[in-house]
Amino acid sequence: MSPASFGLLLYLIATCLADDYQWTYDEEAFGGPSFWGLLNKDWVMCKSGRLQSPIDIRPEYLLFDPNIKPVHLDRINAMAEFVNTGQMPRVRIGNNHKKPAVNMTGGPFNGYRYRLQRIDIHMGKGDVNGSEHTINGKRFPMELQLLAYNSDLYTNFSSASKSPHGIAGISILVDIGSETTEELLKLTIATSSIMYRKQRQILTEIEPWKLLPYTRDYVTYEGSMTSPGCEETVLWIIINQPIHIAKEHVGNSLLLLGK
Ligand SMILES: *[C@@H]1O[C@H](CO)[C@@H](O)[C@H](O)[C@H]1NC(C)=O
Ligand SMILES: *[C@@H]1O[C@H](CO)[C@@H](O)[C@H](O)[C@H]1NC(C)=O
Ligand SMILES: *[C@@H]1O[C@H](CO)[C@@H](O)[C@H](O)[C@H]1NC(C)=O
Repeated sequence: MSPASFGLLLYLIATCLADDYQWTYDEEAFGGPSFWGLLNKDWVMCKSGRLQSPIDIRPEYLLFDPNIKPVHLDRINAMAEFVNTGQMPRVRIGNNHKKPAVNMTGGPFNGYRYRLQRIDIHMGKGDVNGSEHTINGKRFPMELQLLAYNSDLYTNFSSASKSPHGIAGISILVDIGSETTEELLKLTIATSSIMYRKQRQILTEIEPWKLLPYTRDYVTYEGSMTSPGCEETVLWIIINQPIHIAKEHVGNSLLLLGK
């Protein structure tokens, strides 16, 4: 390809994609992660940032901190809606007079309270390699990301995501097991009603804290949003133990999502 046509190609991608936000996680497609930094001037962090997530966690380099506190997630039934964004299945968390906001406190949050905004579900094609974070280079079949914004400092998620100490993300890795964790099973069943882009379904019985495995241990680091614009405002917490999904539950409805 000549330099001139290469330039034109990038320009075309930039104008098509920046306008209607058609970025994708598919590394082989236009708009995949290695293009994000070129697509839009507000996404420059995706290319030039130094604290970019996800990361590979190498246990031999971790430092143990005996003073770190457990993370607390409100143990309540959340007001929730399940939606197929076209890129992934996502649980949007809201609140009303019957169901208050779900807050995250404790942990490495320096006393701040973070309000749960959404749970993003990352998965691969088939039942492998769906997670964004990796452990010693190993990718897990799925990863749930509970994303919350600092409600002591900011009024909404989008302004927090561009601001210091704005976002906290809890990452729960999911491995194949003989049974599916109960709260995750509710989501896998509900995926059958959001098979197509932009479909949504109210979830009446979701308790996000029940997605957490039985451990208080986690790894924490300062990183970024893992979608454009990759803002470096996220305090990540990677829970130190996976939850499980049975092979037949990854295999059916989840497979068709995000297409
Ligand atoms: C979460 O925090 C908000 C204030 O930011 C409060 O109104 C709400 O009741 C809290 N949720 C619970 C379950 O306590
Ligand atoms: C999953 O990742 C591993 C390690 O990178 C790779 O060897 C394997 O081919 C991948 N599998 C699929 C189906 O992409
Ligand atoms: C978020 O908060 C900012 C600052 O308070 C405000 O300007 C913006 O309109 C809000 N965005 C949404 C989507 O509510």
